[in-house]
Amino acid sequence: MISGATRLCGIIGDPIEHTMSPVMHNAAFRKLGLDYVYVPFRVPKGEVEQAVRGMRALNIRGLNVTIPHKTAVMPFLDEVDATAEKIGAVNTIVNDDGVLTGYNTDATGFLRALLERGIDPEWKSVVVLGAGGASRAICSVLAERGSKVVILNRSLERARGLAGEVSASCGNEVSALALDGLNLARALGEAEVLVNATSVGMSPGVDESPVDARLLRPGLVVFDIVYSPLRTRLLREAGEVGAETIGGLDMLVWQGAMALEKWVGVEAPVETMRAEVVRAMGEGED
Ligand SMILES: NC(=O)c1ccc[n+]([C@@H]2O[C@H](COP(=O)([O-])OP(=O)(O)OC[C@H]3O[C@@H](n4cnc5c(N)ncnc54)[C@H](OP(=O)(O)O)[C@@H]3O)[C@@H](O)[C@H]2O)c1
Repeated sequence: MISGATRLCGIIGDPIEHTMSPVMHNAAFRKLGLDYVYVPFRVPKGEVEQAVRGMRALNIRGLNVTIPHKTAVMPFLDEVDATAEKIGAVNTIVNDDGVLTGYNTDATGFLRALLERGIDPEWKSVVVLGAGGASRAICSVLAERGSKVVILNRSLERARGLAGEVSASCGNEVSALALDGLNLARALGEAEVLVNATSVGMSPGVDESPVDARLLRPGLVVFDIVYSPLRTRLLREAGEVGAETIGGLDMLVWQGAMALEKWVGVEAPVETMRAEVVRAMGEGED
């Protein structure tokens, strides 16, 4: 029941229709018995400043921020935490009586998903595929943690640019290679963890994988951040050779959980959030 005391959270982005965040956060609020509601707001590119002003005026407690606003929103906040500053992107805003602080729980959620599975990337060799927005958050948090990161991307220039930026901000050397079979074979030969942060394998391209299955092996940890479908071709093939697999749903749920905890100050009901997303996607996890 929405009452006069109900607090508001939400997500700003464009497009926004396909977001899983309202399902996940409203389930959490219900489970916790909190008088909060979470709604999607379609905010077109170029209108993020007005959206932030609206957040203050309407006393919205928290917002998630998604494409295309994660970087553009930063100048309009009062504070940005150190991790988000280094990444150059904010995905979560907390409104404390008109003081807006930005965080990046994509990065901390990714790390948490690994740690929850008992995998600490500290000092490990990690191959990250992709050099887009998600890769930026992931490479930054890994480099901060002391991982040895190699970025492979279809566009080598973009990989080099990201590697240079992350190396400079984290003081930890990150290398860059073109995403091709030879480089993949070489990089994976030394890697302990493989992260797919490209959109390859994402619905509707569910028959695609960014990695030839012959390069996968037992002992490798394969984290595919794509969450639609829940079980990508890469994860299926990695599972078949005995590699350890982590799906994008883990990152999605942990970034949401860590945002929610900042808004309401209590532990997030992670299993409820996870189950509700799986239900809404109409897919089983195997
Ligand atoms: N689980 C989660 O919580 C979570 C969070 C964020 C994102 N994601 C998922 O992560 C994926 C990437 O998101 P993003 O925001 O980083 O997107 P983005 O900024 O658009 O970056 C896309 C990346 O994929 C690469 N790519 C696209 N098509 C490719 C192809 N056919 N072959 C090789 N590389 C290709 C791009 O390479 P170029 O630079 O060469 O174009 C780029 O590196 C999406 O599937 C998204 O849904 C998941």
